[in-house]
Amino acid sequence: MKSDTIAVKRHSLLYRILHWLIVLEVLLLLLSGLGVSEYIPLALLSRGVARSLHILLGLTWTGTITFFVYYLMMSGEYRWFGVSKIAPAIDFFVHEVRSFISGKKVKSPVGYNRDKKKYTEKVVPTEVLAWWGWFTLWTIMVLTGLALIFPDGFGFINRLCYAILPAFSTAAAATRFIHLVISVGIVIYMMIHAYASWTFGMVGSMISGSNDEPVADVEK
Ligand code: HEM
Ligand code: HEM
Repeated sequence: MKSDTIAVKRHSLLYRILHWLIVLEVLLLLLSGLGVSEYIPLALLSRGVARSLHILLGLTWTGTITFFVYYLMMSGEYRWFGVSKIAPAIDFFVHEVRSFISGKKVKSPVGYNRDKKKYTEKVVPTEVLAWWGWFTLWTIMVLTGLALIFPDGFGFINRLCYAILPAFSTAAAATRFIHLVISVGIVIYMMIHAYASWTFGMVGSMISGSNDEPVADVEK
């Protein structure tokens, strides 16, 4: 086993395009969403325009993230993030926290096998948790958003939100509030994600597609 690094293609063009398209759509959704907000009104656009734009973008974004998940599965990328990886990722996270407290350095499991021309491990396990975090936030935003557009078809979401927040005057108001709170959660999550990607030197690979990876010529 050698300790060199090798430049490899980490992300396909389509994966990168989808990632940045999702980022752009989220930023526009945030701007248009705040344009119709009952609580934090941001009057950059007229309310009518903001509403139409938000609904159009919301439905487009739902399509983009559905395709992103489909692509993740069809390209085989999903196997690095799959459900079976969640429990070991939690163990790794606990190990990271313990090491941080005791001042020890955690060894990254990421490695690339030059002979087989494939990764032995592609992601640090914490990224698995980050991915499922995104998935949860996306699901809540889509379901609450759809319930606001189609209250009849998605009545169960409105009823669930009302059960969580019964102090609101209507079920739709409870749904709307949860939609707003999670949108703020997305902003915070995005900042943590961007900061982590930046400090771990990953941003370049999400633009160019390639990254210098540690060589792991022995299969782990
Ligand atoms: C990251 C994605 C999203 C963000 C950041 C976001 C943000 C927001 C915000 C801040 C509001 C105003 C809530 C309030 O304070 O009253 C809002 C309202 C709304 N959102 Fe979203 N949203 C997102 C995704 C979606 C999706 C995917 C849909 C639908 C498929 C959707 C549909 C709606 C609808 C229908 C409203 C109420 C508009 C009105 O009645 O005037 N949103 N959104
Ligand atoms: C709403 C905004 C964003 C969303 C929804 C989002 C979502 C995602 C998802 C789902 C992944 C794949 C899972 C993972 O590796 O964690 C990912 C990877 C990545 N994101 Fe984002 N992201 C956003 C913003 C950003 C920003 C602003 C940056 C950079 C400044 C960034 C940089 C990266 C990088 C570098 C990776 C790949 C990490 C790797 O190579 O393993 N993302 N993002």
